[in-house]
Amino acid sequence: MAAILPRAGLRALRTLPRATPVARGSFASTLPRTQRPLAQPITRRFLATGIPEQPRLRLGSTAPNFKAQTTHGEIDFHEFIGNNWAILFSHPADFTPVCTTELGAFSKLKNEFDQRGVKMIGLSANDLSSHGDWVKDINEVANTNVQFPIIADADRKVAFLYDMVDQRDIDNIAEKGIPFTIRSVFIIDPAKKIRLIMLYPASTGRNSAEVLRVIDALQAADKKGIATPIDWNVGEDVIVPPSVSTEDAKKKFGEVRELKPYLRYTNF
Ligand code: BEZ
Repeated sequence: MAAILPRAGLRALRTLPRATPVARGSFASTLPRTQRPLAQPITRRFLATGIPEQPRLRLGSTAPNFKAQTTHGEIDFHEFIGNNWAILFSHPADFTPVCTTELGAFSKLKNEFDQRGVKMIGLSANDLSSHGDWVKDINEVANTNVQFPIIADADRKVAFLYDMVDQRDIDNIAEKGIPFTIRSVFIIDPAKKIRLIMLYPASTGRNSAEVLRVIDALQAADKKGIATPIDWNVGEDVIVPPSVSTEDAKKKFGEVRELKPYLRYTNF
């Protein structure tokens, strides 16, 4: 991926601290000194010990907690979420074109996320001073005012914790030197459970409308005990889940349209 990173992104990465000597017995230590990767601290740990230990991130598992520096000061992630929903979205690097369009679009949708009770937090693998300069660019390009915090994850600590790294970079770590943070979206509920994970490749910007749509679907499912069909949007018919009998569904929702015994629609 480093090959497709624009010059500004690479420049930012080169300013990050260089590695101290790699651990004895690690894969990197078998390479001639001139071929050793430009490892960052978290990568160094990876090289020394194999893939860093991390919780398994599954839908329904607790979002791992962490402390991090952000553009709004230091945060404890779970305290930041509090009793709200949260969206954590990550980016490969500051001053990269696709990321700049994404941050601008998410910023413009802040009211939409607020209306749904969702706190927003971004992450990019650069330091705070880089984030500060980048936010100025985003505000200018998208004519917005980024109001949510962006985590400074220059050492990839949160990126590894949330498995936001590209396998091809890890496989080619000696050649590429550093695994890049991919575009991830985590939707987390007030109980701190992970409810949705989206992983996008570096070359593909996300769809902000889909992110809002899935939050609507999750919140409707939680509040009303329904499921939502393909391409559903707020106001459209919803599905009666298999666990509810048609008789009970009629009592709860009123009219129920039964296409098949297992496919029943209602409009709550
Ligand atoms: C981008 O955001 O434009 C980007 C980031 C990393 C690799 C390629 C593109």
